[in-house]
This record gives sequence, structure tokens and C-alpha cells, in this order.
Amino acid sequence: MKCLPVLCSVLFLPALLFAQDIKKKTAPQLGKNSIKEVIAAMTLEEKAKLVVGNGFHMPGVNPPGGPVIGQTQDKVPGAAGTTYAIPRLGIPSLVVSDGPAGVRIDPFRNGDSSRSYYATAWPVGTLLASSWDTALVKKVGAAFGSEVKEYGIDILLAPALNIHRNPLGGRNFEYYSEDPLVAGNITAAIVNGVESNGVGTSIKHYAANNQETNRNTVNTILSERALREIYLKGFEIAVKKSQPWTVMSSYNKINGTYTSQEYDLLTTILRKEWGFKGFVMTDWFGGKDPVAQIKAGNNLLMPGTTQQTQKIIDAVNNNSLSMQVLDENVAGILNIILQSPSFKGYKFSDKPDLKKDAAVSRTAATEGMVLLKNENNALPLKAVKKVAVFGNTSYDIIAGGTGSGDVNKAYTVSLLQGLLAAGYTADAGLEKIYQDYLKTEKEKHPKKSFFQEFMNPTPPIAEYAADNSIITQKADENDIALITIGRNAGEGRDRKVDNDFNLSDTEKALIKNVAEAFHAKNKKVVVVLNIGGVIEVANWRDYADAILLAWQPGLEAGNAITDILSGKVNPSGKLATTFPVEYNDVPSAKNFPGKEFPDQAETGNFGMKQIPAEVTYEEGIYVGYRYYNTFNVKPAYEFGYGLSYTNFTYKDLKLSSSSFKNKITATVTVTNSGAVAGKEVVQLYISAPSQKLDKPSEELKGFAKTNLLQPGASQTITFNINAADLASFDTNSTSWIAEAGKYSVKIGASSTSIKQTAIFGLANDIVVEKDNKVLTPQVDINEFKPANNNATGYIQELNGFVTMGQ
Ligand code: BGC
Repeated sequence: MKCLPVLCSVLFLPALLFAQDIKKKTAPQLGKNSIKEVIAAMTLEEKAKLVVGNGFHMPGVNPPGGPVIGQTQDKVPGAAGTTYAIPRLGIPSLVVSDGPAGVRIDPFRNGDSSRSYYATAWPVGTLLASSWDTALVKKVGAAFGSEVKEYGIDILLAPALNIHRNPLGGRNFEYYSEDPLVAGNITAAIVNGVESNGVGTSIKHYAANNQETNRNTVNTILSERALREIYLKGFEIAVKKSQPWTVMSSYNKINGTYTSQEYDLLTTILRKEWGFKGFVMTDWFGGKDPVAQIKAGNNLLMPGTTQQTQKIIDAVNNNSLSMQVLDENVAGILNIILQSPSFKGYKFSDKPDLKKDAAVSRTAATEGMVLLKNENNALPLKAVKKVAVFGNTSYDIIAGGTGSGDVNKAYTVSLLQGLLAAGYTADAGLEKIYQDYLKTEKEKHPKKSFFQEFMNPTPPIAEYAADNSIITQKADENDIALITIGRNAGEGRDRKVDNDFNLSDTEKALIKNVAEAFHAKNKKVVVVLNIGGVIEVANWRDYADAILLAWQPGLEAGNAITDILSGKVNPSGKLATTFPVEYNDVPSAKNFPGKEFPDQAETGNFGMKQIPAEVTYEEGIYVGYRYYNTFNVKPAYEFGYGLSYTNFTYKDLKLSSSSFKNKITATVTVTNSGAVAGKEVVQLYISAPSQKLDKPSEELKGFAKTNLLQPGASQTITFNINAADLASFDTNSTSWIAEAGKYSVKIGASSTSIKQTAIFGLANDIVVEKDNKVLTPQVDINEFKPANNNATGYIQELNGFVTMGQ
């Protein structure tokens, strides 16, 4: 049939529209049709857009001025990013938002200050881990997840579980521990709590991302054993115990390849060895080559740029990326979208129960504070009415760190406010001096935008140099002195040794002068550490009667600290990270933050200079207490250490057998032998025989926190020890091997305070698991090796196993 074009279109228009309509209606829909059918209906462009985030939608921000740390105005203002929606296939956009210490979104929208979107600032990760209480952490996760859900977010960009390799790590406050067993189990608890709300998490930063200096370029060079035993172990535990919706790959390279471009990290290990079912997203602008990322199994590139989308389209068109691989990555994302609140059309309220959550935050904060010193029972405060409160951060407390780990909270309770609320009287004169000083100092640095602050952080306010005559006067007028020492750090930079790890001269003088003046009057001095990472304590601790490590305790900071100081709550936190005597004692001190190659510098995103760099983990597996214990370097406060207002005794350690078959059970009874109710963190360490492989002298293999035990009450704790708990990674055979020999089970109140020991034997080596030979370093690493390892020799020595009490 022939017709004139105009007439033709008129004649056939209805039919055309009908056909389109049918096509639209019959296009497969996510949730109704199989993922395979949905993918088959997607165009190449749609697929390439789905695996690349929507970028930043920042009205009024002209690139290259956009923020480095994710923040978009799309869907949920201030969230870190969104994914591409394909409405014709029923695929919604996902909202992802930071971060580890609370939901990070804009507190106000469109200049409307009548309605706020504040979130709870939870205690920082290091504090939560110091609780050693997975049930508590899961509760925090559940409350945290309700805010994620009620603010319309699908995936929380947390928790963060990189190992505390070095105390100067700028983001250590976001992370949990120097030990992967603690980090992995705390992560699994948070993930299970958050995800119980039907929202997702992204465990990050996978992996070996232990510094901020040159974070986008640094090549982390480490042995397969250190990688497997220390830096991957926590992720492995978390994946196996909580199956998080997503994993975030890190910025750094591992042994030469960007993690987001490393198939063996993202697919061979994460998916094939550990069985991870979710999807992997990059860290914001992480890696270089989008096609390599997709091939590696890094499903989603965040926050996403149009160039990345184009490169993926081009690669499929020129056959350098197969459609099948792209489809697999798409499927990974769609699988998670199916579970998301956005897909389910959840009508979020924008009104989480912040009051209820603040109470959870306060309780959690008290559970993770660590009492480091308590000479002559200086704490809890007794017969104290009037308190001389020293230290900037007593008045201007630090709830949490900076960068994407920061939270827009409605308030932060200062220590002063906490004390007043509990009925103490604070020295008003001293308060005025500090408040005036802080006001003047703050006025010198007007508040900057998040981005400006990230690029050029405002220096911390120098500690107020209190005059000696004032200190002496205050010692007359008050019952006790409290001194708070504060530290803050965050994403983008590492900390320094001088005036950061080490106290400044003003801080040292303050502690000394206050101690001398108050002690002269027979009055006590309590130091509160409001810090996110480890500092030097050995030099000044003798001046203090008590030291409370309060960490950065979230928005209820002052109330939670006062709960401990007053004795309303008995401290039960223990260190999940060592406090060394001095910085040079840290095993990675000589290899942190590594070498730079400035002559090869390039310009990266937002015009930022990118300097190639490398860092070699020469300490190998000897990180934290694994080093201090094995190499006999005495720390200031060891891993696992923490005091209580009561005492605990340990007795009756029993093993289910004296020779290991598939499993051994250890039971031990802990009794509160003091005068007040309290909880104890019970730790199980193993000293393994060293045949072919060198071994740390102790390794944590189990931990538990008792219930609140009343004076005289006991609890029996049971630990299960499996073959995997006895195994070390043998690089030659790429397998986990439990070596034959004599094993000591050590039940400790800390990593050096061992209370009960028992011994069992293993007759023959067990190959627990054979893994793939991957991520091999390309250079020799001069790794630490202990001179005299605890080679406990042969099975013949195993006569007469004993259970020893101490
Ligand atoms: C941080 C991530 C964060 C992301 C989105 C990055 O700069 O490293 O931890 O989740 O930004 O804000």
C-alpha cells in the first residue's frame, strides 16, 4: 500500500502508538519477570548506565568544584550517591549513604530550616569494638538501620573494618581493631543489625586500605600470608556470618593492581572462596580503568561518570568486554535492587525515632569506654560535688571523626553538660575562661563547607594554656580535677606524631600542673581521653589518678562519660587496639606511610595532585599484639586491657579433650569477686606450635562478654575451637594448615594477663582448606620473623596434658 507521508502517519499513528504501548506493557518488569528476562530486554546503554552511578547532582556546584566525598542532591539530599533508574523495566534508583558512625545526609533541605533531617551520631567504630559485645553492637545496628530506612536510603556505606595497622591512620576511628577476629565479628553484628530492617550495608574498604596518605595511588605490598591472615580475615568472617548486601572495594592497589580492578580479590576470593552473594561497588572515584573493574567483578562504579559509561559501551562494541561479563555484573546489582526499600516502594517517614536511638547510643558509649587507670579507686567519684573541669574538649567535646565518617547530629552533649545534668557543680570561673577562649578561637576560623573542610581542614584549637595561679586557686575551690584531652582526625589525611600522637607541650604542662596543685591539696585528678585513635600515654600517666578512655562517644558523649565517672555504669570496655609506649615501638613505624614517587605525579579528579606511592608491610602478620607479645615489646596498655570498678576471678578451665580431633570445647567460670555489679570481657588466645610456619606467641581465637554479674555471681563461658581456629596460611601450598604439636589455650583478661591455661595436642597436621594461588607479591618482602619461635616440637612431648590454673 502506498500513501502520502502525512496521510500515512495519520492513518498508522494509532496502530504505532498501540504497538509501542504493547511493547511498554510487555517489557519485562523486575520482580515480575526473571532477572535473565529483564537483562535480555536492556539495551547496552542501559546496562552500562546501571553499572555506573548517577554521579553528583549538585545544583550550584560547577565541576570541578564538586565534593570528593560523595554527596548528591538527588533523591535524598546529602546522601553519597544513587544508581541509575530504568522505569520502563521497573528498575528504581537506589540511594546509598555514609557512613560508619551514623547516617550522613544534609540536615536541611532547600534552605528550609523549619524541618531538619538530623541523624544519631553513634559512638565511633573503635569504641563499639572496645565493648567486645556483639549482641550490643547488633542492637546498635538495628537502631542505626531504622534511620537508614526511615530516611529513604537503601544501602548504608558502612561498616568499615580495615585493620588498625598504625596508630596514625587517619580513619582508624571508623575502624574496629588491630585484630581481624574482633573486626570481623563486630562487623557481622552491625551488618546483621542494620540489615534486619530490610536495608543494605557496604562493608568497606576491601582491602588492605590502612592509610590515608596517597590513598588513591598507594600500592600496598604485602605477603599472601599477611593478606589472608590479617587484612582479609575480618572481611571473610563478616561475609560468612552476615552476607552483607554489598562490599566496597578500596582505593589502593594490592601487589600492583587496584583492588577494584583485581579479579582475584573480588571474584576468586570474595565470591568463589567465601561465597559472597551481593555486589561490589567502588569507593568514590576509586581505580582507573572502568572496563577492568567490570571484568574484575566490581559491579558498580561510584559515584559514576559519563566517561566511564562510554568506555564500557565502547569496550562491548569493540569486543574487549564481553556482554556476558557485563550481564553478570548487572545481575548482581538487580538481585540486590529486588530486596531494596526503593524497589518495594517503602514509604519512608523521614522521622526516625531519634530520641529512642539517642538512648541506645548512650548505652553503647558506656559499654565501650575503657578504664585505663584507677589508682586508689579514684573512680567512681565519691563525695565529690564541685569539679574543676579543664581541657578544651570538656566544653567542646568530639562526638566522632571527620570526613565521610562524620554525622549531622542535632546536638552533642559536652562533658560539662553531662556533669551538670547528673547533679555535679562545675567551677563557673573556669568554665567562663574556657568558653571565652573557645569562642575567640572559633571566630578566627569561620565555618567552611564540607568540601572546603575536606580539602583544607581547620586546625584543631590549641589546648588552652591554663595559668598556674588559676590552677592553684581552682585546687582550693574544687573537690577534684577533670582534664579532657581531645583528638580528631578523618578521611583524606593521616595523623602526625608531634602534637597529635604525642601530647603537645601545653597539654603535658596542663596535666602536670593540675596534678601537682590538686595532689598538694590531697585531691584527685582524672584524665578523660576524647580521642578517635591511639595516643602516647606513658609519659604523663603517672600524674593522673584515673584515666578514662572515652573515645569519641557519639552525640550523648557527656552523659555517657558521666555515667561511668559517677559509677552509674561500671566500665567494661577493653582495648581492641594496643597503646604502645612510644610511636617507634609500633611494628609498622618504619613503613608508614611508605615511599612517594613525586616525579611521576599526575593530576587526578578535581585537579587534585596524585603522587604514586608504595608501602611495604614488612611486619607481615606481626600487627598489634601479635608483634608486641612475640617480640617482647612491652606496651603502655596491651590489647584486651581494661579495668572495672569490680574484680573478676577465673577458674575451672576445662577442655573437652586433651587431643584434638575435629573440635574442642573450652569452658571457664568467671566470678565477680568485687563489691559492685560488672561485666567482664573474657578472651581466649591460642599459642600454636611452630613447625614449618612461624607463629605469633598468642592469637585471639574467641571472646565473650559476661552478663552483668552481681557481686559473688559467676558465669561459665563456653568456647568452641575448630580446626580452622588452629590453622595458619602456608604460602607454599596456599593452604590453611593446623600443624601437629602442642597447643596452649590461654584464657585472659587481656592479651598478657592470662588467667588460666590448658594444653591439648594435635597428632597430625590438618589441611583445613586449600585456596587459590593469587595476589602474589611481585617483589621480595623482608618480613619480620621471630628469632625464637614457640616451636613446641613433637607429639612425643605431649604426655600428660595438664590444665593449669593461675
Ligand atoms: C570514602 C568512602 C565513602 C565514600 C562516599 C569516599 O571518599 O572513602 O568511605 O563511603 O567517599 O562518601
